[in-house]
Amino acid sequence: MKTLNTFYIRTYGCQMNELDSEIISTQLQMRELKKVDDEETADIIILNTCSIRDLSEKKVLGKLFEYKKDKKDKIIGVCGCMAMSQKETLLKKFPHLDFLLGTNNLLDINKILDNILSKKLQEKRVDLNYEIGLENFFAKRENKIKSSISIVRGCNNFCSYCIVPQTRGKEVSRDSMSIVKEAKYLANEGLKEITLLGQNVNSYGLDKPNSKILFPDLLYMLDKIDGIERIRFMTSHPKDITKDLMLAIRDLKKVCEFVHFPMQSGSNKILKAMRRTYTIEYYLEKVNLLKSIVPNVTIGTDIIVGFPDETDEDFDQTYKLFDKIKFDTAFIFAYSPRKNTLASRYDDNISNTLKQQRLQKLLKLFHKILEDKYRKLIGTKKEILVERFNKDKKILKGRSREFEKIIFEGDEKLIGSLQMIDLESFSHQTLIGRLTNNKNF
Ligand code: 5AD
Ligand code: SF4
Repeated sequence: MKTLNTFYIRTYGCQMNELDSEIISTQLQMRELKKVDDEETADIIILNTCSIRDLSEKKVLGKLFEYKKDKKDKIIGVCGCMAMSQKETLLKKFPHLDFLLGTNNLLDINKILDNILSKKLQEKRVDLNYEIGLENFFAKRENKIKSSISIVRGCNNFCSYCIVPQTRGKEVSRDSMSIVKEAKYLANEGLKEITLLGQNVNSYGLDKPNSKILFPDLLYMLDKIDGIERIRFMTSHPKDITKDLMLAIRDLKKVCEFVHFPMQSGSNKILKAMRRTYTIEYYLEKVNLLKSIVPNVTIGTDIIVGFPDETDEDFDQTYKLFDKIKFDTAFIFAYSPRKNTLASRYDDNISNTLKQQRLQKLLKLFHKILEDKYRKLIGTKKEILVERFNKDKKILKGRSREFEKIIFEGDEKLIGSLQMIDLESFSHQTLIGRLTNNKNF
């Protein structure tokens, strides 16, 4: 095998995967490998994968079939959730695949490469337990304005449809001091915004009975770090969202007024079958409490349509609640049965056509809600963190504290700064504005 000089890494799925890819890339760069943007010139190809829905897995399988025809002398590896969910079969099914690296073995990447180079055998590291040492490894970030920090890995919830507890293992909260240290490291690198990541950030600290630091406490610690201007977090499970957290959002200057806490369905019957452990009444109570404590808060949700036995009435309840709550961001998915989950034992009895019809109907409602909201925002101002140019390098893009996407014309030197924008119009899901002249906001 030739010497290794370059690698290509492609990330599928969520922000946690994006972060894991940076952890892998940093280690490869530490052994003097250069990251390249195309598969052709790479000596190593890494697919960091997602298993959340069938479509996510199909995209990767398609790639693996492609490489089968034309592997050349490249090393090819699968990391992330598919390395976990298909650990028994992938290496057999794809003999040209060189390694599987699971979500709890990120620090093993270089050992794996060394073994492949010396033994020329397929390698597999797919532990289900939290990886020791990971909390003290800080990835180099490509984005110099904003990035994420993992604060809880794994998930203990076992929602009946979800494969994540199988692919990422049990919930483990990271030591608070190492989180603070990583946030300071990012501030020192010049980053302005951090997003705290976990499948359920609200349960931070609950797995450590001796720790007194829960999620709101962590926010208070991070809010003090000089240089960081904004703090976001996701995802919040409604069952664990507390009044203390709401007060922290209200009182802490840097914590943004946006909460992503997925409702999943508006029908109690479906929520029960999903094992979400809350009712719609409870969910609404939390939404109302949050809005009363943080009046300008925006709320994001995930919704699954077409769960087994979802009747027209069940969907109608989801639709009506969606309209009542008027979510500010929404990811809407068609139910996709996942192997070895509880729901995979139920009959997947909603046709794809009906799932798509329901999805489109909800999407249409969501777009109408956004339009109504954006229309009302015209003529007002919002503070944004300027993140980057768009592709043609003419328009700058940023987000408000409440997570609205805003574009405006401006100079490159504004990137990384907070700016006030007068909102003038909108197109699709983007607000359009111009820099406010008055700098004394
Ligand atoms: N089918 C469809 N959507 C799913 N999600 C999780 N599992 C499935 C599945 N089997 C959605 C949930 C979750 C989001 C990350 O993905 O809405 O909140
Ligand atoms: Fe999956 Fe539920 Fe855990 Fe979210 S909370 S990762 S939906 S099991």
